[in-house]
Amino acid sequence: MANGSFEQKTPDACAFVIFGVTGDLTHRLVMPSLYNLAAGHLLPDKFCIVGIARKGMTSEKLRDNLLEGLHKYATRPVEDEIAKRLLECVTAIEADPREPDSFDHLKTQLEKLEAARQTVGNRLFYLATPPNAFAPIAQQLGRVGLLKEDGEAWRRLVVEKPFGTDLASAKALNDDLLKIVTEHQIYRIDHYLGKETVQNIMVLRFANGMFEPIWNRHHIDHVQITVEEKLGVGHRGSFYDATGALRDMVPNHLFQLLSLVAMEPPARFDAHTVRNEKAEVLAAIQPQSEAEALSNSVRGQYTAGEVGDAEIPNYRGTEDVGADSTTETYAALKLTIDNWRWAGVPFYLRTGKALGVKRTEVAIKFRQAPFAMFSCTPVESLAENYLVIGIEPTQGIMLQFNTKVPGPMIRTDGVQMKFNYKDYFQAEPATGYETLIYDCMIGDNILFQRADSVEAGWRAVQPFLDAWKKAGAKGLEPYAAGSEGPKAATDLMARDGHSWRKLT
Ligand code: BG6
Repeated sequence: MANGSFEQKTPDACAFVIFGVTGDLTHRLVMPSLYNLAAGHLLPDKFCIVGIARKGMTSEKLRDNLLEGLHKYATRPVEDEIAKRLLECVTAIEADPREPDSFDHLKTQLEKLEAARQTVGNRLFYLATPPNAFAPIAQQLGRVGLLKEDGEAWRRLVVEKPFGTDLASAKALNDDLLKIVTEHQIYRIDHYLGKETVQNIMVLRFANGMFEPIWNRHHIDHVQITVEEKLGVGHRGSFYDATGALRDMVPNHLFQLLSLVAMEPPARFDAHTVRNEKAEVLAAIQPQSEAEALSNSVRGQYTAGEVGDAEIPNYRGTEDVGADSTTETYAALKLTIDNWRWAGVPFYLRTGKALGVKRTEVAIKFRQAPFAMFSCTPVESLAENYLVIGIEPTQGIMLQFNTKVPGPMIRTDGVQMKFNYKDYFQAEPATGYETLIYDCMIGDNILFQRADSVEAGWRAVQPFLDAWKKAGAKGLEPYAAGSEGPKAATDLMARDGHSWRKLT
């Protein structure tokens, strides 16, 4: 996005150092994104990729391993010429965070390589590792001086999700990292911000004059944020059972959507201003007591069922999941935002696995018109006014309103005006990480989470985590895989006279 990336620039010469270089994330997302950037001539000429590897991994073996991954996960046909150019940049260096001395060796090797490749000391350390390795790696890099910014050269640390598992651990991780680097050096990734449809929310709101005057409690009845997935937990049982739907999705992905929809207009399109506004709105989410949290939330866990043609086993029968697990695979919350724009407007959030449909969207429901003119028309036959921001798989924007059915009588019907990305733009298939990786290299952190936002997100969900932990199995509602989720989620809305937007 490049500070409102109104123009494209080539990143500075740099070393791109990957921890977790043979892992899933590197294969699936990082390398295919680097390939796409190389294909678009968006990598610097003076560039090297350093894979931090365990003993015995040579550069040659690593290149083979990465090429194999690229063939499997690239989003477009792999051209030999581009792959060769990219892989020529790869060097393996041995280091292991469990052996601190190995970082002294890493420093010597890296500096030699940097001199040979003329990358002038700019370094990006990408931690594609399990989260418990973030702080130990950063500490070792800090100890040997690899993260210290001196002179012109920049040093950056890219951290993947999850960032903490609750408010206390997120704060502790921020404290640990901020002892080693300053905030501007940290790039906390949330892959939702790599999605075009998510980045477009700000453009929709602030590059068009007609939405802002009605974007408030006077005109908006409530907001629904939905992330429904068809897939079950699959082989991620061990991670997921310790995490659950709320931690996995809400303080990060759903709150990114919420903050973009609810933030005040930033005065400037730069990282500082935009991130201030996003942090402000998250901090304005009204804190809930544990009793309120229980009454304003729903937890569900899937049981065996069919999603399309796929049989999904009972969550509790999944590999690495306890037979009496009380981890939620579905969460719905009602939140309010305590500021002038949103006072009294509920925000309903829901997310779940093994559901009948895949859908990620934000639905803005406008207040109903006074229907006096149409008093003979039953209210339920009047369409609700929705503006729907489709994130995935429908990528676009839809406005729903009433119109007159042609004919001599006055009859109304709901219609939809739709914008679909694919009708207007032809983008090369991408991983969604290209913009994020490019932005790390050009030093634009507009699309990355700042410490205060991360903590504000955890602060808002902490009452739910605490209340659910105490409640244990009580209140955990089973739902069949392939269904719409727990009935209690419908009741959560019905209580306020609302209903979740149905797919039409
Ligand atoms: C990840 C979660 O962060 O996001 C997964 O850990 C989830 O459980 C995924 O499936 C959803 O991402 P997307 O882009 O498919 O909506």
